[in-house]
Amino acid sequence: MMVVHTKQELDEQLAEWRQHDDHIALVPTMGNLHAGHLSLVELAREHAERVVVSIFVNPTQFGEDEDFEEYPRTLERDTRRLKTSAADLVFAPSVETMYPFGLKDATTVSVPRITENFCGASRPGHFDGVTSVVARLFALVRPDSAVFGQKDYQQQLVIRHMSQDLNLPVTIITGETVREKDGLAMSSRNQYLTDDERANAPVLFQVLSSVADDLQNGRRNYEEIEAESMTKLVDAGFDVDYFSIRRAQNLEIPDRDCDELVVLAAAHLGNARLIDNTVVTI
Ligand code: PAJ
Repeated sequence: MMVVHTKQELDEQLAEWRQHDDHIALVPTMGNLHAGHLSLVELAREHAERVVVSIFVNPTQFGEDEDFEEYPRTLERDTRRLKTSAADLVFAPSVETMYPFGLKDATTVSVPRITENFCGASRPGHFDGVTSVVARLFALVRPDSAVFGQKDYQQQLVIRHMSQDLNLPVTIITGETVREKDGLAMSSRNQYLTDDERANAPVLFQVLSSVADDLQNGRRNYEEIEAESMTKLVDAGFDVDYFSIRRAQNLEIPDRDCDELVVLAAAHLGNARLIDNTVVTI
């Protein structure tokens, strides 16, 4: 497995694979890899002969008061973990490689509407940063497919929207959320939790799962369910950002007959902002 940092090194390797007509899958990450990321690498390999993992802590998707500086950068450990995975190449570019005109003169790719609520409302500009960097990664790697996690449900919908709307020649694949034994979704940000907070954190998925059961059992008073769930989370010490039942396809408000729902949640526990979701097919 190779680790490259520049566009030229990347191009050389990609050209060789393309000569052999190998299909290429991309797994974009910000590093600090855990089993969730690694599951996406294995899924990518099912769709392509060659797997590129990008590791780039993207400055444009962090708000000014967010954790860009503290975000864990563990490239050496990440590449060691990837050596025993299906990854063929790690692309770990510099900010200058990703944004050759500099951050102030960088072109922004912006998806409207579906980015306005939920993480888009709590983190203004966040999704513009995500779509701008993912569009750049697509242009640099030109992958046949790209894999994203269901964990960031709104993110994968936004990227699907961008790719379809711009006719980008890439197939978007979504991989399931990998969880700790107690149900907590794996995340690089879980390490911000204290021991007490960590013990409490699985309540988020417990509440999501109990709502999924309610919906399966025919409950349809969405707003009441949302209010009850928020109370449960607040009682457990969470500072709730949002808890919402929406149409899985486009995050719009569902009517009673909607048979594909997603329950989305984001909540702060101490210094960590946890997000999670569950899809309910009725
Ligand atoms: P990052 O948070 O590093 O996540 C990289 C990918 O891993 C995303 O597609 C995310 O949804 C997925 N992922 C995270 N936790 C997961 C889990 N527990 N199980 C399965 N998949 C999981 O998301 C980003 O980086 C960035 O926004 C990025 C898309 C790389 C753009 O900068």
